[in-house]
Amino acid sequence: MTGEDFIALCVPASCTLHDALVRLNTTGRGVLLVTAPDGTLLRTLTDGDLRRAALLHTSEQSPISALPAQTPVSIGIDANLAAGMALLDKHQIDHLPVIDKQGRAVDVMLRREMSQRIWLSSPHLGEEETAFVEDAFKTNWIAPLGPHVDGFERELAAYVGVGHAAAVSSGTAAIHLALILLGVKAGDTVFCSSLTFVGSSNPILYCNAQPVFIDSQPESWNMCPQALERAFEWARREGRMPRCVILVNLYGQSADMDAIVAICERYGVPVLEDAAESLGATYKGRASGSFGRIGIFSFNGNKIITTSGGGMLVADDEALVVRARKLSTQAREPAAHYEHTEIGFNYRMSNVLAGIGRGQLRVLDDRVAKRRQVFETYRNALAGSAIEWMPEPAGMRSTRWLSCFTLPGGDLARRQAELLQFLERHSIEARPVWKPMHLQPLYRGAPFFAHESGDVAARLFESGICLPSGSNLTDDQQARVIEQLRRALAQVGA
Ligand SMILES: Cc1ncc(COP(=O)(O)O)c(C=O)c1O
Repeated sequence: MTGEDFIALCVPASCTLHDALVRLNTTGRGVLLVTAPDGTLLRTLTDGDLRRAALLHTSEQSPISALPAQTPVSIGIDANLAAGMALLDKHQIDHLPVIDKQGRAVDVMLRREMSQRIWLSSPHLGEEETAFVEDAFKTNWIAPLGPHVDGFERELAAYVGVGHAAAVSSGTAAIHLALILLGVKAGDTVFCSSLTFVGSSNPILYCNAQPVFIDSQPESWNMCPQALERAFEWARREGRMPRCVILVNLYGQSADMDAIVAICERYGVPVLEDAAESLGATYKGRASGSFGRIGIFSFNGNKIITTSGGGMLVADDEALVVRARKLSTQAREPAAHYEHTEIGFNYRMSNVLAGIGRGQLRVLDDRVAKRRQVFETYRNALAGSAIEWMPEPAGMRSTRWLSCFTLPGGDLARRQAELLQFLERHSIEARPVWKPMHLQPLYRGAPFFAHESGDVAARLFESGICLPSGSNLTDDQQARVIEQLRRALAQVGA
């Protein structure tokens, strides 16, 4: 429903029953909103109201105000989807007018939309996953090892162009193992991008190490090389050189690898590349995830390809990957009696899930193409708006895992919340950009190095929105998102 469609639903009480019938017929929603000149909702008018009026022989030329009075069922602008659904069910109706604090009709919730939710990024299976999973069942390889685990590791390493890979239970587990492999111990300092999901940084705390967060640069939304340089200078002064730098590639886009890797090399500190969100992206033609001493990927359900839950650790150094496999299987020594000399973890991926991963890997390039197309469709459709899309710097090819933009102007927190609430009313899942780690209560007190212009990550968080971006988003669904987004942007003045 566009803004014009909504306006067409609103009629004055002086409208004749005949004209109301014509309007009901042309708008085709089964309901009209009868409003006072100041927009206050007076009542709703349905086919049923007109049928009853006809049975009472009310003249077609009578105004709506001549009908028996009715108190409309409506919902406040701040109410959530569940409250709306409960009201629809309670009154057995399919449309729910939304009113603002002054009682003015501002929107309508439709049962049809509410029951067809559009997700931010949902799993999208290809055609080969079932065959791999069936094979795992047929051959009884239902264990956290087996031919599909080996195959998935081989195939993913080849795709990314890295020597070796270890399949594990999650991206977070892969980061935890990587920190251990890089020698992170209790009390050590670890640098990490601030604008990310908490899975990037929680493993620092698993190791009882101390995070130091680095801001983003506006050009890529990823780690700012200049802030990183200042963090290194500080660390040298303080005698707190980091054991490693967790470098995140956000929303499908690589960080500025040339600059960041050069700085880390100069200080002799290894990069742990968190490519959980950027599988399929490239930087100057080279695969995202292949730049760090160790790289990691996530196959969580919302990622560009998924194994329902899972992760991968990759490295050119075979010894590191062999050790990752050992640590992920309780650090078992090669002895029949289960010998252990160090702490291990139960982090290995199962053969069944690896089967799903092998199927998914075969459609990865299609998924990247589709997500990029989803992004372009948004950008073209909203070309007249003042919003700013996440940039894609020259030389970087993003997967556009999520299509993200920022709102212009001020009063951002309120406008961002209003916009998200508007979309939610129409059962469209959109989210703010990640809340940066240096603003999270969990990491209160952790040092943070900002961009020279101020806190870029905080600005992106206040103004940034992630839109439904799945590769299985249909054209109709995306058209629905665009229609509602246009209305929402008009409402918040963007
Ligand atoms: C940037 C980033 N790092 C790490 C993770 C953790 O991955 P997982 O959910 O597979 O543990 C995620 C996502 O989930 C992520 O987006």
